[in-house]
Amino acid sequence: MNGLQLAATNRADLEPILAIEQHSFQWPWGRISFEGELNSQNTCSYVVKSAQGHTCGQVIAYVFLRRAADELHILKIAVRPAWREQGIATWLLERCFIISAGQGTKSAHLEVRPSNIPAVELYQKLGFQVIGRRPKYYADSKEDALLMTKIISKLQKEDL
Ligand SMILES: CC(C)(COP(=O)(O)OP(=O)(O)OC[C@H]1O[C@@H](n2cnc3c(N)ncnc32)[C@H](O)[C@@H]1OP(=O)(O)O)[C@@H](O)C(=O)NCCC(=O)NCCS
Repeated sequence: MNGLQLAATNRADLEPILAIEQHSFQWPWGRISFEGELNSQNTCSYVVKSAQGHTCGQVIAYVFLRRAADELHILKIAVRPAWREQGIATWLLERCFIISAGQGTKSAHLEVRPSNIPAVELYQKLGFQVIGRRPKYYADSKEDALLMTKIISKLQKEDL
């Protein structure tokens, strides 16, 4: 996809991330949660920036991932509302999987609210499969979580 740039998140990205977060979740993470993840050695995080036009340099999406042994846990992903349904989350996650596979990661895992249809559909389209359900996983809404997983070890740059 033209006009997008992938970069490791840095502290200057925190303000736009917080703004996107507020527009994306009913129970958004706060600054302290993001700072904790940015300080964690096990977390990696990427932003997508617009690379052309009047939005050049603007953060339009982010993802936070935690690595443990050969597993990747997707903690959070969000796309700026005006940029949704244009393939940006797909573009971002596919690149994260290839980077992680190159570092020896075998599988990716996540929890998602069954009511979050865009996210569930996104993950299914990317090849994730539901492997379980955690009852009342979300403390805020008491909603169950779907557990989803995908093998990523065989992914290579040529798959993009
Ligand atoms: C979920 C989210 C990250 C998807 O980002 P996106 O860039 O719009 O996703 P993509 O354009 O790559 O869409 C890929 C697929 O996801 C599904 N999808 C995306 N938006 C959808 C919607 N509104 N309704 C139904 N399916 C949707 C579709 O299957 C789509 O494939 P298609 O374009 O062939 O139909 C975005 O809606 C978002 O930021 N939501 C708020 C935050 C959130 O819920 N994050 C996930 C939980 S951590």
